[in-house]
Amino acid sequence: MTVIVCPKCSRRHRVDTSKIAQPKKVMVRCQACSHQFPILVEPEQKAATPPPDQSDQTASPTPPPKPESARKICVSLSKGGVGKTTTSVNLASGLAMAGFKVLLVDTDTQGQSSFMLGKKPPAGLTELLTGELTPEEAICQARDNLWILAGGRSLAGAKRVIDKRSFGSEWTLSEAMESLDKKFDFIIIDTSPGWDQLTVNVLFYANEIVTPVALEVMSLHGLAEFTKSLHAIQKYKQIDLNYVLPTFLDDRVEQPAHIYSKLQSLYGDKVCHPVRYDEKFAKSPSHGQSIFEFAPDSEGADDYRQLVRRVAHDHSLLQS
Ligand SMILES: Nc1ncnc2c1ncn2[C@@H]1O[C@H](COP(=O)(O)OP(=O)(O)OP(=O)(O)O)[C@@H](O)[C@H]1O
Ligand SMILES: [Mg+2]
Repeated sequence: MTVIVCPKCSRRHRVDTSKIAQPKKVMVRCQACSHQFPILVEPEQKAATPPPDQSDQTASPTPPPKPESARKICVSLSKGGVGKTTTSVNLASGLAMAGFKVLLVDTDTQGQSSFMLGKKPPAGLTELLTGELTPEEAICQARDNLWILAGGRSLAGAKRVIDKRSFGSEWTLSEAMESLDKKFDFIIIDTSPGWDQLTVNVLFYANEIVTPVALEVMSLHGLAEFTKSLHAIQKYKQIDLNYVLPTFLDDRVEQPAHIYSKLQSLYGDKVCHPVRYDEKFAKSPSHGQSIFEFAPDSEGADDYRQLVRRVAHDHSLLQS
């Protein structure tokens, strides 16, 4: 196999050169942008003109293998705008800052997780599921200890791969991710609003769920619906709603406090320390920074530090 890079869109592709007997110039077409360009293939996997762009900072060494499998935690709720992506990015960043090896997987077509960290990876989950890239080629490093497997609009292609399978389609993501599981301490998966075949794949892959619940009445309905759908998955595999994370807590308003206590009566100690409403969350993405980088002294950063400690079961983490 040889990896070539499209000179137009920088997408990486794997090309089978094992049957090439002598150097040969061939025309290829990029599956991502349809650009046609010549490459020189040589025997013994060598080859490829143009060569991979060595300055591409998105291609990064894979972290060293870990002896045990990662904890796979998805951040999910069918309702939109409740803080799933904000939670995924800041939980993953906080765990990485605490010294864990973390992979953040974006399974949303909006592709906001990478954006929030100021990254534009040329490839990601789609190329992994279509088999164009290996897991190690598809991830890119965003920070110390933190890697991203990007989502975005191209995920329509990933969904087609899942749809095409005649059986076992709900395990497509799990199978594709297998070799990455041992290389990280945590794999955090951001999910899209709604419920589709990719969400089902995520729930078959993950072992734990963080559910952000914006403190307003409609989110409680959303949580009830989500729990119902989850029961269908639980018939086939072990997965629990482990952490209910109240978001957008505003002490000045009465309703959120009421909904918070309702959540506590329904979900008991699964309910985490809430994340307060903080305008800094709306500003940090445009700087490509996590809340810990953009506003480390903010209430929002404090609240996500609490979540990191709770999830990692270590209350000494990220103490200043
Ligand atoms: N605690 C908070 N306080 C204030 N603003 C917040 C808070 N959490 C998230 N936000 C902002 O609310 C908006 C929605 O958050 P986010 O994108 O994380 O939600 P989401 O559940 O991922 O949405 P979607 O379902 O569309 O993927 C964003 O603009 C984000 O910056
Ligand atoms: Mg989102």
